[in-house]
Order: sequence, then C-alpha cells, then structure tokens
Amino acid sequence: MTAVFYRGVTSDYPRASHSEGMYIYDEKGKEYLDMSGGAAVSCVGHQHPRVVEALCEQVKSMSFAHTAFFSNGPQEQLAKMLAAKFGEPGAKVYFTSGGSEANETAFKIAWQYWRAKGQPSKQKIISRVHSYHGNTYGALSISGNPVRRRVMGDLLLDWPRIDPCYAYRNQQPGETANAYALRAANSLEEMILRQGAETIAAFIVEPVVGASLGVVPAVPGYFKRIAEICKTHDILLIADEIMCGTGRTGTFFALEQEGFLPDIVTLAKGIAGGYQPLAATITRSHIHEIFVTSGKGFEHGHTYVGHASACAAGLTVLNVIKEENLLQNVKTQGDLLQKELDMAFADHPHIGDIRGRGLFRGLEIVADKRTKRPFPDEMKITRRLKRATMKHGLICYPGGGSFQDNLGSHILLAPPFIVQPNHIEQAVDKLRLIFEDVF
Ligand SMILES: Cc1ncc(COP(=O)(O)O)c(C=O)c1O
Repeated sequence: MTAVFYRGVTSDYPRASHSEGMYIYDEKGKEYLDMSGGAAVSCVGHQHPRVVEALCEQVKSMSFAHTAFFSNGPQEQLAKMLAAKFGEPGAKVYFTSGGSEANETAFKIAWQYWRAKGQPSKQKIISRVHSYHGNTYGALSISGNPVRRRVMGDLLLDWPRIDPCYAYRNQQPGETANAYALRAANSLEEMILRQGAETIAAFIVEPVVGASLGVVPAVPGYFKRIAEICKTHDILLIADEIMCGTGRTGTFFALEQEGFLPDIVTLAKGIAGGYQPLAATITRSHIHEIFVTSGKGFEHGHTYVGHASACAAGLTVLNVIKEENLLQNVKTQGDLLQKELDMAFADHPHIGDIRGRGLFRGLEIVADKRTKRPFPDEMKITRRLKRATMKHGLICYPGGGSFQDNLGSHILLAPPFIVQPNHIEQAVDKLRLIFEDVF
C-alpha cells in the first residue's frame, strides 16, 4: 500500500530504478525507450557522466546558500551564458525551479514594470486558446489548455485569449499562408482594441506550441506581425520557451527561427536536462533598468531562486550541448525522424498530420482524415495511447484537447538530443504496434 498521493490517483505506476542514455528501466527490469525526455526534459540523455560529476562536485563544495544572502558561481556563469545567447546587451536572468514559477515571475515582472512606469491599469495578460503556461493559479489562469483548465471551472481568472496560429485546422481553403499569418496575428490587435491597450500588460505565446496542440509551429510571418502589434500598442511580449527552447527545435531559442525578440523569455525543462529542477526568466535590459531607476525594486522570490547545484547542472548541460555539437544532431536526426514518421504513417487513416521542428515532432490523431474529425470522447483515445505506449516500452507524450474542449488527441515526441537512427527506427516500430493496439 503506497503513501504517495499520485498524479493519477487510481493509477499504478511502474517504479523507475535506473536509466542510461536513451533508456529508462523499471524495477522489474523492463526497458523503456525515452522518445519524449519525459515532457521534453532530458535533452542530453540520462546519466550523462559530465553532468552527474559537475552536480556531485557542486553539492560537495556548497550545496545551498540562500540567494537573499549570497550569489554563487554557477548562477553567475549560467546567467552570463543565457544573457549572451539571448543576444541583447544588458539582458538579465532570474532563476527559479520550474516552468510555472518562471512564467509567474514573467507575469510579476510585467505587472511591476507597468506600475513602476506609472501605468498600473495595465494588468491583463492575453494568451492563446490551446496554450499551456503552467499549473500554479496564475499560470493556469493565463493558460488556454481546455482539459487542464476544465476541472478548475470558474475558480480561475478569465483572462482574454485569442486563437492560436494552427494552420492544420484554422487556415481556410484557398487562403495563402501569408494571408493566414496576418489574419491569425491581427486577432491579437482586435483583442487589444476590444479590451483597451491601457488595460493590457502583456501577451504570452509559445513560439512552437507543445503539449496543448502536439507541436505546432506558426506559419511564416505570424510572429513578425505579433511583435509589431505588441510594439504599436505598448504591450510586453513574453515568449514561453519552456518546452520548445534550449535547442529543442535546432536553434537555442525557437524564436530565432521566427526573427523576433520578445521582452521576456522563459525557459525550463531542458535547461538542466532533468538533472535538477531549474527554470529561467530572461528579460531585456530596459525592463530590468526600470526596477533600478524607479527605485521601486522588484518584489518577488522563492526559497530556491538561483539554487547553486541546479545552476551547476544547467551550466554543464549547456556546455555538453555546445561541446558535443548536439544542435547539429537535433537538426539531422529531427529531419530523419520526420522522414521516417512520414514514411510509416502519412497514409495511416488515423494520423491526420505529422509536423514539427528539430527533435520536437507531433502526430495529430483523427477519426476521419478527410474531415479531420476527432474521435468521440467516450473512446478515450489519449488514455488508451498512453497505456499502449507504456506496454510497448516507449516513452512519448500523448495529449488531448487539440480540437476543442476534451476532443482531439496527439502524440508529442521530444527525444534526447543524443538520439541516433537506430532509436528512431525502434520508435517507429513501436508506434506501429501501438497504433495497431489502439485503433
Ligand atoms: C510551454 C510550457 N509552459 C509552462 C509549463 C509549466 O512548467 P512546469 O511543469 O515545470 O511548471 C510547461 C510544462 O509542461 C510548458 O510546456
């Protein structure tokens, strides 16, 4: 009898006992091929010796010193590295322990920024339908993931949301990609005008949507227009790169492929590769400056802000990505993964779309490929997919709600950046068996 309050209260989970590279093993010795890094976390694979060693060394020399009293070397070095990657002189980095905290930090930065500038009415944060920004009260209020919001009902704050840029379902027949990009982006301007720009603090968006839609990049031109709209109406732009960042799409930030610079960007998951809980909120210099020059400071903090061993793990993960040239492998194996998925499933009657960038790929599941109709809720396709993947020893990330409310299913793949062609072949073989079981 367990004393654990499990995520799935009636679920019975196998116990993970050890892991290595691309694989996790349970206590019974069963092997699981990790093709999603859990939830896009394990970017350098499991038990990477350099990360394990760096972490042990840090814990041995100084495991914790509260950052209300001290800074520490790993925090300083990692901040410098991330600020340089962000590419704007004077960028600053605030470290927390998980994605929800990183986004809550971003929201507080936005709110306090406008207050410091004498515009306290700028409070609302616009997000998109089918988005996920975290599970804390504020972050879930600002998320548009229908399945995760539903259970909280009207307890959540109801912030304004616009539709995502989701060409597979929302681009109209005969509409060019360019026209769709503008139509989708302009819905932000319409929302701002409806609400009044003087009431809006920020717009938050995932440059590539992760778990809520099953890996959906925007069509070209969308983000350029979004950035223009935010600038015109004096609204901060927050890029949530918690899932799609840290190299997952082939560039360190996914937004590099879109050619815009947000005011704030958040990272988590891959940033410390699962070796420690770590997240980062990176701001442009003009934001940090206002807290300094206004004399108002920034009121926020958690016990584990800037945790030394978490930052030491993050620092080593980023060094491993660079020194082992893993972003090149993300591009090469990402292309191969897309090609193999297309070859195996493009004609499958229930795989409506296969998409993504780098080692971030999604398969959208449909009941009818022509009409894109999802399976009815009572068939519980997402749950059955999850069970079948575990049975066949494949860790991937099935999700629901990609159509509307709890309708629509997808599978997200986000393997470690060390993945090789033999793992991709093994994953496709397992997916074939999984689809045979479920459909
Ligand atoms: C895009 C995005 N933002 C925020 C979060 C929340 O991160 P965490 O679960 O670490 O709090 C997630 C988690 O899946 C995410 O995918």
